Amino acid sequence: MTGLTDVFVGSIDQGTTSTRFLIFNKDGEPVASHQIEFTQIYPNSGQALRSGTLEIGCELIIAYSWHEHDPLELVSSVEACIDEAVKRFEDQGHSRHNIKAVGITNQRETTVLWDSETGEPLHNAIVWTDTRAQSIVQDLKSRKGADELQNICGLPLSTYPSSTKLLWMLQHVPKVKEAYDKGRLAFGTVDSWLVYRLNGGAAANVFVSDPTNASRTMFMNLETLQYDDRLLDFFGIKGKIHLPKVVPSSDKTAYGAISSGVLEGIPIMGCLGDQSSALVGQKGFYPGLAKNTYGTGCFLLYNVGEKPVISKHGLLATVAFQFDGKPVYALEGSIAVAGSGIKFLQNNLSLFQESKEVNELAASVDDNGGCVFVTAFSGLFAPYWIDDAKGTIFGITQYTQKGHIARATLEATCYQTKAILDAMEKDSGHALSELAVDGGVSNSDLAMQIQADLISIPVYRPKMRETTALGAAIAAGLALGLWRNFTELRDINRAGGVVFEPNVPREKGAEMFSLWEKAVQMSRGWVE
Ligand code: G3P
Repeated sequence: MTGLTDVFVGSIDQGTTSTRFLIFNKDGEPVASHQIEFTQIYPNSGQALRSGTLEIGCELIIAYSWHEHDPLELVSSVEACIDEAVKRFEDQGHSRHNIKAVGITNQRETTVLWDSETGEPLHNAIVWTDTRAQSIVQDLKSRKGADELQNICGLPLSTYPSSTKLLWMLQHVPKVKEAYDKGRLAFGTVDSWLVYRLNGGAAANVFVSDPTNASRTMFMNLETLQYDDRLLDFFGIKGKIHLPKVVPSSDKTAYGAISSGVLEGIPIMGCLGDQSSALVGQKGFYPGLAKNTYGTGCFLLYNVGEKPVISKHGLLATVAFQFDGKPVYALEGSIAVAGSGIKFLQNNLSLFQESKEVNELAASVDDNGGCVFVTAFSGLFAPYWIDDAKGTIFGITQYTQKGHIARATLEATCYQTKAILDAMEKDSGHALSELAVDGGVSNSDLAMQIQADLISIPVYRPKMRETTALGAAIAAGLALGLWRNFTELRDINRAGGVVFEPNVPREKGAEMFSLWEKAVQMSRGWVE
């Protein structure tokens, strides 16, 4: 490819709370961007429900947390971000015609169902954080074959993957059941939905997903990267639902092209689930490299190379990326609440006006004052997997200040990261020597220092933290030929990062961690 300095790649980053579009140059620098927050729908805010009313024979009273997105709003937010970012790009004197390809990265597991003939959604998307399928999960766990699932797809049964969200909609949404009975039910994660709609919907019918996203459904075999009949049979959907074709994460033609708007005709050449994308954006291309992204949730991915490692310690096996035929795998530790814990302090408890103020508040005290906050708003994910854990604050006394709660909220994510790293060491047999970080909460020096203190290894934060979007741009840029290999990407985003060195004795961190572990055990089983 000639004249590379004039070539740019766009990156759609459709996350849990916001959508962005960024335009990167060949040096991996974002030159223009736009971000939009979209509607978070909480139809049932976790109040106690008698699960018998959900048509499943179980008499327990369980609190469910429901969380939805409007699929059409996801698409319109992408289109609006593209329009505005391209405008800003052109305001700088560039031409939109120099944007030669687009990559997509997205919130994973979130499930969209639509009519395969009309392309219209049949229900709001159920978001990855949503725990309404708890009873379904309990039921599935008791079925024959349940123990085998994780060996095939890498994920344990829980409310987190797409499979249980799909089953919930099949059982409770008449329009979904009707489409299913007529053979018109299309299932997709957010990547598939966006690719489908950006290509023009039913008329073009570009219906694909990449392996990093498909590995979050529980329908795909991790080794073959194809849907596995044993999995589809287990969930009772074999041959009855339209599933997107799984294609490589970086591909010149499989994802089609944008069919309208300012980037009409521009091909989509890259697609990665957002956590895999951040690993790519941090250039975690080789075994032994890891990253932790502190977004709405927090996700630690550790590259294990060309063979999946099935965890024995509460982690997930997932696809890191598939660029040139051979997939590369990761061990993953997923934490449901990170930035959303800070939003909880802001929106629900009104402790401050803007998220960044959490730092000042947390720094207003010397330590957590004995408070431990188990931020289990969606149960607890890795490595604990306690679906019925509830958000619980321990250690409150007359002395407790707002600052202690703020600090305990930041610490909660750091403790869970420590638990995940311990599990990763057991699964992989190797201790990590440094943790690369990114995502909104990583902007907090205090949080990153707490993290280094708790895990007793250095924490590295790159200067440019848009690594998730950069990952999708890299996937698209590799297919485009903007970069030919990983070596050419070596110098991207290397200068100017910060290293947080551990600053407290190991024993102090261990002592705090043991209190956390105690609190985790005490946060489970709260049913009324
Ligand atoms: O698995 C869920 C994850 O992909 C969501 O990421 O960045 O939107 O919190 P984020």
